[in-house]
Amino acid sequence: MEIKDQIAIVTGGASGLGADTVRALAAKGAKVAVLDLNEDLAKAIADEVGGIAVKVDVADSDSVAAAMATVKEKLGVARIVMNVAGIGIGRKITSRKGPHPLEDFMRVVNVNLTGTFDVCRLAATDIASLEPLNEDGERGVFVNVASIFAFDGPVGDTAYAAAKAGVAGMTLPMARDLANYGIRVMTIAPGFFDTPLARSEVGEAGVDKMVSLVPFPKRPGKPAEFARMACHIVENSMLNGEVIRLDGAIRMSMML
Ligand SMILES: NC(=O)c1ccc[n+]([C@@H]2O[C@H](COP(=O)([O-])OP(=O)(O)OC[C@H]3O[C@@H](n4cnc5c(N)ncnc54)[C@H](O)[C@@H]3O)[C@@H](O)[C@H]2O)c1
Repeated sequence: MEIKDQIAIVTGGASGLGADTVRALAAKGAKVAVLDLNEDLAKAIADEVGGIAVKVDVADSDSVAAAMATVKEKLGVARIVMNVAGIGIGRKITSRKGPHPLEDFMRVVNVNLTGTFDVCRLAATDIASLEPLNEDGERGVFVNVASIFAFDGPVGDTAYAAAKAGVAGMTLPMARDLANYGIRVMTIAPGFFDTPLARSEVGEAGVDKMVSLVPFPKRPGKPAEFARMACHIVENSMLNGEVIRLDGAIRMSMML
């Protein structure tokens, strides 16, 4: 699908990987809606690219429905939907502090997994009623975000790994569900990218440890590299139903 003149939604678009994805989509001529919990940052990015900012908590279904309705009203139905919003809470399943609080596990699953599913189900229903764009019958494309922790999660990341494994696992069946509507579904599983979330999770010492695990190139990924992949997925219609690791060949060890 050509990005130019399309409407795009980027959840988590106010920071890190999402913010650079907003910039990349806008640079290619999309009208972008920045959906994020952080209203001020979302507005700053939206203003930078001439898009709109909409406050959303992807873990709250009423908030998701309201945000999607606002985008539809202000810009129209978005054919490009990128689910980048995510959080992590590091904690072992049990420790001297006691069992992993269940509400922390549920919050991580609700934001990363349920939030992604919720946005996709509402977007798919709207996109299905649009005319196809090309001779393939293509109507839309979803780019969801997992993590390499979906496959080799380290100690203390059970909740995040479970949520991201869910995002990876629903990629193929969702693509199959939506094939008749001409909507593709892809997932990117990033390795270590230099963003506020990644730095706060691993700490400054953890940055060096993570980089030491990357065979090549020996550095954190750049958000612009993630954004390029996200845009390529939109532009290449043969990409569907797959999870792409974008990680410099890193494989996590047991400990960070
Ligand atoms: N940076 C990495 O190394 C890395 C690696 C693997 C996966 N990821 C995934 O990439 C995505 C982006 O991460 P990032 O590193 O850019 O983080 P980030 O913290 O810079 O950005 C995440 C954005 O999501 C928003 N957000 C959080 N909870 C939300 C909610 N409930 N509703 C709406 N918005 C919410 C935040 O406000 C923030 O703007 C996440 O899904 C993360 O799990 C990141």
